[in-house]
Amino acid sequence: MLPVRRDIQFDFPAERIGNWHADGVAITQFFNALSVTFPDGERFFIHAVRQFRDQISDPQLKAAVTAFIGQEAMHGREHEHWNALYFERVPAARKINAFASKRLQRWKRWLPKTTQLAMTIGAEHVTAVLGDYILRHPEVLNGRQGGSEPVFVAMLRWHAMEETEHKAVAYDVWKSVMRRNPRAYLERSLGLAFMLVAYWPVMNKLIIEGIKAETGSAPDGTDIARLKAFLYGPQGLMRNLAIPMLSYFRPGFHPWDDDNRELLAEMDNIEAAYAA
Ligand SMILES: [Fe+2]
Ligand SMILES: [Fe+2]
Repeated sequence: MLPVRRDIQFDFPAERIGNWHADGVAITQFFNALSVTFPDGERFFIHAVRQFRDQISDPQLKAAVTAFIGQEAMHGREHEHWNALYFERVPAARKINAFASKRLQRWKRWLPKTTQLAMTIGAEHVTAVLGDYILRHPEVLNGRQGGSEPVFVAMLRWHAMEETEHKAVAYDVWKSVMRRNPRAYLERSLGLAFMLVAYWPVMNKLIIEGIKAETGSAPDGTDIARLKAFLYGPQGLMRNLAIPMLSYFRPGFHPWDDDNRELLAEMDNIEAAYAA
């Protein structure tokens, strides 16, 4: 699977930024928080993979790396459009983002290159399983009865499809530059664990500030119940992602063990509708 860089642009309606998801403010703020974390995260992934570019000899993998960088750069650009509207509405989120961004800069300087790559392939696994779930269950974005603002939905579906398309690129870089031994296995496992542990507190803070800005008060019982059901209920994201997430820890794991390329079928429609 060779990913393709697509120049796609979304015109987000500013007046819907705080409440575009059909299932209400709390769920909207979950996806807004996700959007905030993407651009700097994606720059971190690009940087991590780029540091190994010279060590790759396989021309196909080299081409895949170029496309990977192109795709992540496009995602970052479009999420920045989204985030600019969001920061206008939720000024506190700008500070939280600045903190997370500084931390990523420090990691780029201080952490060994292999650890940065391990964190990247861990995070790419998360975006791949999240993307897979979102594409298979349209109600996650559309809302249980439908009715979410279509531009936000299309943007996240496009992002999910490209995350699927390039899900193995960083991993293949890892495989081509690392020896297969217990130390490398441990490092890549810790990469995912470390990413998740660092990520959740930032998400939580952003969701709380987003709800405060929109409703004028801290999350109430209804918001919390909504988010709990959305994340941990029978159809909940976290509950359903747990098993695919764990597949990462199989010693012989490869992202394409789960061949889900059929989920890319809608790409042409989105490209036709939103090409820059
Ligand atoms: Fe991305
Ligand atoms: Fe990605």
